[in-house]
Amino acid sequence: MPFPAELFGLKLLAPSILSADFARLGDEVDAVLDAGVRLVHFDVMDGHFVPNLTIGPAVVGAVAPRVHQSGAFVDVHLMVTDPDAILEAFVTAGADGLSVHVETTPNLHRTLTRIRELGASPGVVLNPGTPAAAVEEAALFADYVLVMSVDPGFGGQRFIPESIDKIRRLRETVPPRVAIEIDGGVDRENARRLADAGADWLVAGSAVFGGGDPTSSAGVLQELLQT
Ligand code: DX5
Ligand code: ZN
Repeated sequence: MPFPAELFGLKLLAPSILSADFARLGDEVDAVLDAGVRLVHFDVMDGHFVPNLTIGPAVVGAVAPRVHQSGAFVDVHLMVTDPDAILEAFVTAGADGLSVHVETTPNLHRTLTRIRELGASPGVVLNPGTPAAAVEEAALFADYVLVMSVDPGFGGQRFIPESIDKIRRLRETVPPRVAIEIDGGVDRENARRLADAGADWLVAGSAVFGGGDPTSSAGVLQELLQT
């Protein structure tokens, strides 16, 4: 189902499973659910739009039931050249939100409308080199805008500081009902600043799964967002 109204306007951590131990994926997801997270972020890469290959609908479908059981939601970030071809498969697998890159599809309105028709929340994503203005119109048809603060493709990259200004600009230009999500290089040092600049949902991969204990890392980050 689409993201419920209660998620909008909240500052939320969205752990990205990209940095989890894939051999123990179910346990890793349970660990962040134990910390009370409401969003779990899945990074789908096709080896064309970005130079990496990750997961498909089968993996999302294997993990989605435990996310939903704990009252959390499945946030799928599509880094693929042809998102339209796979939207339905991810919604069937349990995606509640599906975000597509503005750089991938020329028919953004059609794609976002299709995601909504399928019963999920549409999101639109901007690469670091893409101007904020590129989503001004598309945001009217989306539930969230995802700002990439690294070049997509890999976890564990360094945060691009110019992204903070981009969040500020987007917060002023996109409708207030549209959530702003930030993805890439988010950690304990910058999380609060990003939230203050206007980011609602903060994706974090290595800052959650890169240390010893994902439950406590997720807990610390969530606490920073509440203060
Ligand atoms: C990068 C992905 C991110 C990534 C974030 O292409 O979209 O979601 O997993 O990882 P960190 O938090 O390690 O930068
Ligand atoms: Zn992502």
